[in-house]
Amino acid sequence: MDQTSRVVSAEYEKGDDEESIRPQTLNEYVGQDALKDNLRIYIKAAIQRNEALDHVLLYGPPGLGKTTLSYILANEMHTNIRITTGPSIAKAGDLASILSVLEPGDVLFIDEIHRLPKMVEEVLYPAMEDFELDIMIGSEGGGSGRSVRLDLPPFTLVGATTRAGDLSAPLRDRFGIISKLEYYTNEQLASIIRRSARVLNVVIDEDAVLEIARRSRGTPRIANRLLRRIRDFAQVLNDGVISREIADQALERLHVDSLGLDEVDIRYLRGIIERYHGGPVGLDALANAISEETTTLEDVYEPYLIQIGFVNRTSRGRVATEKAYEHLNIPRQHSLF
Ligand SMILES: Nc1ncnc2c1ncn2[C@@H]1O[C@H](COP(=O)(O)OP(=O)(O)O)[C@@H](O)[C@H]1O
Ligand SMILES: [Mg+2]
Repeated sequence: MDQTSRVVSAEYEKGDDEESIRPQTLNEYVGQDALKDNLRIYIKAAIQRNEALDHVLLYGPPGLGKTTLSYILANEMHTNIRITTGPSIAKAGDLASILSVLEPGDVLFIDEIHRLPKMVEEVLYPAMEDFELDIMIGSEGGGSGRSVRLDLPPFTLVGATTRAGDLSAPLRDRFGIISKLEYYTNEQLASIIRRSARVLNVVIDEDAVLEIARRSRGTPRIANRLLRRIRDFAQVLNDGVISREIADQALERLHVDSLGLDEVDIRYLRGIIERYHGGPVGLDALANAISEETTTLEDVYEPYLIQIGFVNRTSRGRVATEKAYEHLNIPRQHSLF
């Protein structure tokens, strides 16, 4: 993978060091206003009734703040958070041991919840619905064993996923609060960058803030990563101050596209334009042509390209728009026939 695709990838990378700049409260969490307003009410109501918050499902592309928000929920509820991931819970017993140490009101965060094995999911249903845990004992030797029912304290399950569509209906139905995280506007990204700069103790010019925001692909994770990288340039070349000039220079050296598109975005667009005359092309055929996973294209890349109007999803397949041709500087071939 080249340097460009790493710098503007929405996926978590080692070295992002996100813990220090994660907002801790809903007030510090920028954007997602409708969701935040609702959560404030639910949190207040749950605290007044001295109950656990309802189970929450957060979905959307990587880097938009799902993990951050789940920490904030625990913080605002004044409870602890326990963190795990769908693929790391292989057996029903693994989940049982996680559930059995929960304390009243705790948040259990399951990242990539769409990858929970089916057997594990079934243990989760009564746990979510009635705070009960059914465990089988005495079946290790292959005998029939028997099921024992344990009471669990009330807890809040927060599930995060990039693929809400892959969740089984019974699991989805057990979440009281289901919310999609949206891409951030440039103004929202700018306030995230200003806040992160304060936390990191770097001086940054307003022009530089806006330029970084424009190139962050609507994604806070990318904005923060670019800020860190540009800070290095500023430290070595400009006494630590991030001016517009330093930002431009650094972004150029990092080969960050003017819209923050990465190498996969570009291959995706070129794939439609150069191999399929601009489309329509089916997603599977396109994924195959550019050697990417269909699901990655669908979950990570397409949502942003659609959002900025570079791609349309039609019943006959994906189509590149005029804007995409312009951005890539490819003249449109008009058919002679
Ligand atoms: N709404 C937000 N306000 C401020 N910073 C945010 C926000 N959402 C995400 N971030 C920052 O972006 C980074 C990635 O967020 P994260 O919650 O890990 O994304 P996800 O879990 O959706 O992939 C974190 O370091 C966090 O500081
Ligand atoms: Mg996450």
